[in-house]
Amino acid sequence: MNHEASPTSRYASGTRSSRWSRAILLSAALYAFVMPLVRAFPSDVVSSLRPVLWGITALFAVDLVARLRRARVGGRGVLRAYLKRWFVVDALAALPLSFTPWVVVGPGVLGLLKLARVGQAMRGWQLNALRYSSPLPLLFAVFWLVVAVHWICSGWMMLRGFNVELGVVANYIDSLYWTVTTLTAVGYGDITPADSVQKLYAVGTMVVGLAFLGYMIGFMASMLSRRDPSRALFQENIEQLSVAAQYGGIPQDLQRRVYDYYAYLWRQRLGYNESDFLSSLPQGLKEEVSRHLKGHVLERIDLFREADPDLVGQVALRLQPEVLTPGDYVFREGDDGASMYFIAGGEFEVLQQAHGQPVAKLGVGDFFGEIALFSNQPRSASVRARTYCDVYSLSKNDFERIFRRFPETVAEIEHKARSRQQRDEAAR
Ligand code: CMP
Repeated sequence: MNHEASPTSRYASGTRSSRWSRAILLSAALYAFVMPLVRAFPSDVVSSLRPVLWGITALFAVDLVARLRRARVGGRGVLRAYLKRWFVVDALAALPLSFTPWVVVGPGVLGLLKLARVGQAMRGWQLNALRYSSPLPLLFAVFWLVVAVHWICSGWMMLRGFNVELGVVANYIDSLYWTVTTLTAVGYGDITPADSVQKLYAVGTMVVGLAFLGYMIGFMASMLSRRDPSRALFQENIEQLSVAAQYGGIPQDLQRRVYDYYAYLWRQRLGYNESDFLSSLPQGLKEEVSRHLKGHVLERIDLFREADPDLVGQVALRLQPEVLTPGDYVFREGDDGASMYFIAGGEFEVLQQAHGQPVAKLGVGDFFGEIALFSNQPRSASVRARTYCDVYSLSKNDFERIFRRFPETVAEIEHKARSRQQRDEAAR
């Protein structure tokens, strides 16, 4: 396994190494806040912060050794990947000293490189968060915003110099105030640049502010518009129902049933049609993705549990979902039959005119409608939903095209069809 390539797996588990990784990430974030303060304030004012930086740098060094050892245990490929991708960052961040052209000044800017690890972890967490409508991306954006503001603010303090009369907190607040008003282009003008360097710094801050503001607005808009499609569809349907109820005079009982139907679709996540998304993918990916999307359905169907994955992939791609409310007919006896059906939820009854009672009940995992496909005859019975039901239909054309290559599965379906026909004939 490539340890460097899968941050999610490591951070998701509660192992010792994942706790260590989290401690390193926290340390990197702390470093990113403390280091600029140590640089911005006179050394006697922030002397207590220096040991924090030394401590974190020591942690980074231990982390470097641990990662090197883990990569070596993982094999030559893992070690090579580590040396190529992360070694330089981890090693530079662990350097105990930061050099200026003249002197060694102690822990410095290089430690900030470790923030790249925070970015890497965030990308992993974000991938996990894709599944849910998660606030994580917003939290991450806020984190980077706070880091950026803090750095600009510290830079401004460095340029302005420390005002001894004000003290540490007031100095910081003054600088923060200038940073935020400049970044947001409010610019009250009560704190102004005193020389050309400060003016250039202010110009840079304004440009960064504009870019950041534009990015944040776009980001927020995309977050807000990224809604759960199933929920969005439910809300849209309910709005349409209320309009129809207002103008069309739909009786209350019927309104209730329509509402229950939409609520059922939403609960089962059935309203969302993934076919648009799938159509944008190449064939190979399309089959694999749809096998996952329909996996929970297909694994409930006995016929597919042991079937060839190739068959399951192709079937998954062509299954069409249908939802029925109690009492709905899928088809009636004597209809032409152009599809067969797989039951993913609910219960059906099979009715024949010759019998007063249902001839059979079918539930999750069963299939029906296969007799007409094999015999080229009209439907031998009616099939009616007893409860809310989820079925997936497969057209005759698709059936013939896909199953041609899987004679064993066809024989299994045929066998079932024959035994059902025999049972029906015996009962007549
Ligand atoms: P088909 O004839 O296409 O349409 C009606 C379906 O009901 C039929 O296929 C079978 O799938 C199903 N069916 C008919 N008789 C029985 C039975 N005795 N038990 C279970 N299912 C049946």
